[in-house]
Amino acid sequence: MSDKGRDHSHERMSPPPGETEAVTEMVKRFYEEIQFPGTRPMEQDSLIFLRKFSRIIASFHGVDQAIRVLDAGCGTGNTSRALAAQYPEVSFTGIDLSQSSIETARRGASAKNLENVTYFQWNMLQPLEHEQPFDIVLCFGALHHTADLQAALHTLRLALSTQGSMFIWVYGAHGRYHHALNMKLLAMLLDAEPTTDPVLLAHDFIHSVGDNMAAKDLLGKRSHDPLLRTFFENPTWIADQFLNPNERCVTMMDLQHLLRLEQLQIIEWIGIPGNVKAHIRSDELHRRFALLPEEQQRVAMDLLFKPERYFLLLRKREGA
Ligand SMILES: C[S@@+](CC[C@H](N)C(=O)[O-])C[C@H]1O[C@@H](n2cnc3c(N)ncnc32)[C@H](O)[C@@H]1O
Repeated sequence: MSDKGRDHSHERMSPPPGETEAVTEMVKRFYEEIQFPGTRPMEQDSLIFLRKFSRIIASFHGVDQAIRVLDAGCGTGNTSRALAAQYPEVSFTGIDLSQSSIETARRGASAKNLENVTYFQWNMLQPLEHEQPFDIVLCFGALHHTADLQAALHTLRLALSTQGSMFIWVYGAHGRYHHALNMKLLAMLLDAEPTTDPVLLAHDFIHSVGDNMAAKDLLGKRSHDPLLRTFFENPTWIADQFLNPNERCVTMMDLQHLLRLEQLQIIEWIGIPGNVKAHIRSDELHRRFALLPEEQQRVAMDLLFKPERYFLLLRKREGA
């Protein structure tokens, strides 16, 4: 996917027939072997999310029926498990393509005696079979690994209640561009000769190629953050970040196109500076920026900030 500047506002963005099944099978095989995230420290985005999540839960105050939350592509269930422990009155459902991750998630929930969270294996390219819609849908770090982003978003939209809130976290093509090149380079070196331990080779690559190149290209200014650097010793994280068989980064233009097709709207672009004036200091350039329609302003901000991920709060468009 890329910004081509042409109007493709009515086109569907699905892969060619046959590719979806093959890619999904490859992704499934990968995540059956590496169960992500396993254990990992809390990041900045998680803290921001927790604040927003608790505000939404509080807005249901006085509503009788139980609030329902879906965690799509839940992996080993870290997010839903932590939330289920904190919000015993809320009902959580986690789904993932990987059966082994689901089993780990279930073990984690029963070890904590959590009765308000259930997990089951499901390919989110297929609409869910559920009785009631979900008030909150979460999809963190999973959409870009699916073979068909639109089909996945479609499933999530169908699962969402009319007034529901959806949080998605998806890789950005501009910010992850250099990392994608490093992944390609590593893939070439891996392919040069069969190896029994690609993670070991990836670890070697991270620590010995260029001047801290892999960390800088992946983490930017945060590449010396000691907390983040612990990830570079974590085999699960290394595999997920450097050996992933299917990573489809998108641009804001791609995303807005998909959201339009799926009748979803952006309520908040989380983690992006609200004050663009501080970043476009010329009055003339800022005046021109302000002239752009909302969607184009977002594309302009994407080109300006080149984020490595989009963290968005979405709702259904009115009448959708
Ligand atoms: C990087 S992990 C993210 C896990 C978790 N959401 C987190 O933030 O830690 C991506 C997860 O997406 C899942 N996934 C990929 N394609 C999927 C699909 N089509 N349906 C359901 N889950 C999928 C993978 O199995 C994997 O567990």
